[in-house]
Amino acid sequence: MKSLVILISGRGSNMQALIEARLPVRIAAVISSNPEAGGLEIARMHSIETRVVDQLAHPDRAAFDTALAEVIDSFQPDLVALAGFMRILGDKFVEHYHGRLMNIHPSLLPSFPGLDTHTRALKAGVKIHGCTVHFVTPQVDHGPIITQSAVPVLPDDTSKTLSARVLQQEHRIYPEAIRWFLEDRLQLSHNHVSVSGAVMDDSVLNSPKLLG
Ligand code: GRF
Repeated sequence: MKSLVILISGRGSNMQALIEARLPVRIAAVISSNPEAGGLEIARMHSIETRVVDQLAHPDRAAFDTALAEVIDSFQPDLVALAGFMRILGDKFVEHYHGRLMNIHPSLLPSFPGLDTHTRALKAGVKIHGCTVHFVTPQVDHGPIITQSAVPVLPDDTSKTLSARVLQQEHRIYPEAIRWFLEDRLQLSHNHVSVSGAVMDDSVLNSPKLLG
């Protein structure tokens, strides 16, 4: 069975979704960059090994990356999943995990890379927003896209209501994408990912739309 290491920094709801999806994978460890991350407790409750590589205990990014890679590699995972991991990773680190490092991002990339995606989406007035699972490459939030899910932006949305709607989809598509990886369905070539056996849904999301 393949093995997975999950990296977190905070509450860990995506990590929890991955655990509860009962994927055909051994979750070898959950590693947090933040000793206070709520997700650590959730992982322990599921009897998953946890480690902390404290970002504040390392003088610079290179030292942090080296320490983190050492801990990850001690578990020899087939796949590393970033789940609310709030550190920017250096090129050397990212290249070491080429093709086996995934991230979930709360926007329809390439729109709104970076932080505060829901506030920025509301400010931009987009009518459709969503989330993206992608392979990680050195340029933050720009790696090859594996899958996306779109949700409407409603007239009364706040960043709280919008993020809740998007998060529901994150919890759905991240386990799905990882399942595809585990089933060897993902082919990565020239920055594009294809999913063997996937049926493309041709229904259209229009937002807003007039009824009748
Ligand atoms: C999620 O929206 C994830 O997409 C983003 O940070 C948030 C983390 O939430 N990268 P959680 O820790 O998984 O609950």
